[in-house]
Amino acid sequence: MTFAPLTGLRVLVTGGASGIGAATADRFTADGARVVVLDRDTSADHHTVLADLSDDASVRTAVAAAAEHLGGLDVLVNNAGVGAVGDVSANDDDEWHRVYDVNVVGLVRTTRAALPHLRAAAAERGTAAVVNTCSIAAWTGLPQRALYSATKGAVQALTLAMAADHLADGVRVNCVNPGTADTPWVQRLLDASADPAAERAALQARQPTGRLVSAEEVAHAIVHLADPRSSATTGAVVAVDGGMHALRVPARPTGGDA
Ligand SMILES: NC(=O)c1ccc[n+]([C@@H]2O[C@H](COP(=O)([O-])OP(=O)(O)OC[C@H]3O[C@@H](n4cnc5c(N)ncnc54)[C@H](O)[C@@H]3O)[C@@H](O)[C@H]2O)c1
Repeated sequence: MTFAPLTGLRVLVTGGASGIGAATADRFTADGARVVVLDRDTSADHHTVLADLSDDASVRTAVAAAAEHLGGLDVLVNNAGVGAVGDVSANDDDEWHRVYDVNVVGLVRTTRAALPHLRAAAAERGTAAVVNTCSIAAWTGLPQRALYSATKGAVQALTLAMAADHLADGVRVNCVNPGTADTPWVQRLLDASADPAAERAALQARQPTGRLVSAEEVAHAIVHLADPRSSATTGAVVAVDGGMHALRVPARPTGGDA
C-alpha cells in the first residue's frame, strides 16, 4: 500500500516549474497532497497558474484560481526567487527594486492573497501553514551577493514577523535556509563562469559536507514544515546547508558525490 500521509492537503507552490519548487511539488504529490504551481513559466509537471510575482493583479488572479481548483488552500510555499550578483555598489536602483519586487514584495503579494484561504483552512481543519524558501545568505556573509542577501535577510525577518502576526489565526509560518543547491539556477551561474568545473569544486568545498545540497533535500524540509503534524513548529528557520551556517569543521576534500 502507498504511504500517503498528506492526502487531502491543498498546496500552492510558487516557482514550482524548476529546481527546489519542482522537487517540492513532486514530493507533496508523492505524499498524497494536491498541488498547484504558481510560476511565470508553464513547463511544470503540475497544474499551473501563470503569474509574475512582480504583478499584484496577476498574483491575486492566480491565487484565486489555485484556491478554486483545489477547493481551498492549506499550504503556501513561497519559493520563487531571482538572483543578483555583485557587491553593494554593483547594481543600480532599478535592479535593487526589481529583485526586491520579486523576492520580498512578491512573497508579500502571494501571502496577502492566500491569507483568507489559509485562515479558513486553519479554522475548518487546523492545517494552515506558510513555508518560505529563504537562503544561507540571510544569516551568513557570502561574497558578491549584497542585493540577493539583503532580500533573503528580509524574507527571514518577515517569516518571524508573519509567524507572530498569524499565530492567533492558526497559520504557522516557517522558512528553510538552503546552502548552495544543485538546481538549474546554480548551473546557469556555473555556465556563466570562466571555469565551471573549478567554480563547482569551489562551491562544494565551501560546504562542510563537501557536496552541494540537492533540491530533494530542501523539498523534504519544506514538506516537513508544512505537514500538519509539525503543529508546534512556527517561527522556525531551518538550515538545509550541509552544516555551512552552524559548523566550524575543515571542509572535506572535493570531488565527492555531488
Ligand atoms: N539554488 C540554490 O543554491 C539556492 C540556495 C538558497 C536559496 N535558494 C532559493 O530557492 C528558491 C528556488 O531557487 P532554485 O534554485 O530552485 O531556482 P530556479 O531558477 O531553478 O527556479 C526558480 C523558479 O521561480 C520562478 N520565478 C522566478 N521569478 C518569478 C516571478 N517573478 N514570477 C513567477 N515565477 C518566478 C522561475 O520561473 C522558476 O521556475 C529561490 O527563492 C532561491 O533564492 C536557492
